Amino acid sequence: MRDADAARAFAAEHAHYTDDLPLWRAVARERGGPVLDLGCATGRVAVELAGDGADVWALDGDPHMLSELRRLAGARGAHVAARIHAVAGDMRDFSLDVRFPLAICAMNTLQVLTEPADQLACLERVRAHLADGGEFWFDVSMPDVADILDAMGLVRADAEHADPSMGERWLHSSWYEAYDPVTQTAAYCLRVDHVAADGITRTSVRRHEVHLYTPSELAHLLARAGFGVLEAWGGFAGEPLGDGAGHQVYRCGVAE
Ligand SMILES: C[S@@+](CC[C@H](N)C(=O)[O-])C[C@H]1O[C@@H](n2cnc3c(N)ncnc32)[C@H](O)[C@@H]1O
Repeated sequence: MRDADAARAFAAEHAHYTDDLPLWRAVARERGGPVLDLGCATGRVAVELAGDGADVWALDGDPHMLSELRRLAGARGAHVAARIHAVAGDMRDFSLDVRFPLAICAMNTLQVLTEPADQLACLERVRAHLADGGEFWFDVSMPDVADILDAMGLVRADAEHADPSMGERWLHSSWYEAYDPVTQTAAYCLRVDHVAADGITRTSVRRHEVHLYTPSELAHLLARAGFGVLEAWGGFAGEPLGDGAGHQVYRCGVAE
């Protein structure tokens, strides 16, 4: 798949994931803009926030993701597109002239940084870009290593979606390929079978490596980067961070 096609496919495959959007929209409304959206991809969150009236600096390292973001923002109207500032940059090493009351990093995006030095560099850059009293909100998955090891290599059927515009059904599945207990890096594959009305199927498989953060590790890492944790939840509706939590959701401020 060409990179531009991959960005379009990313947008389409993740359009159905909306569990976190009420939280990001409420926080952006409460804190006001401008908002920094780190690792924004094709703007799943950024376009929603811009649609609500926030100015959003949407940063990503992949220019194809940003092109698709501009296209999708444009499709929502010139007023939405005008509020999006797409920034091609590295979240470990970026410098903008703006200071933000709110920075977010949604949908496990911090997990793409698998090296501790990169994680710290990114957090320090975020902290440096916060306005006085600014907050950094992000989510990462809650690791369940026993489950990952049990499921290693087993293909899990995930969601199924209809894409009426193309007359296709999309069958999502995933499996873990490896887990390194020393670095806490997991490798997993996402497969999407695009099944056309005549049954002919196009399959795409993407492999990702992600860091699995434990809550106590994050507490140390955030403190080292100069953040204090204001709230830590196990889900997007403020669920307790504990046994059975599917996510870790953090609200952080600059440490005194
Ligand atoms: C999980 S996706 C982002 C999803 C998006 N935050 C959302 O909520 O829909 C991860 C994104 O991080 C970007 N990325 C990976 N490493 C990066 C880096 N070092 N700097 C900036 N962007 C990076 C990828 O291009 C990709 O778009």
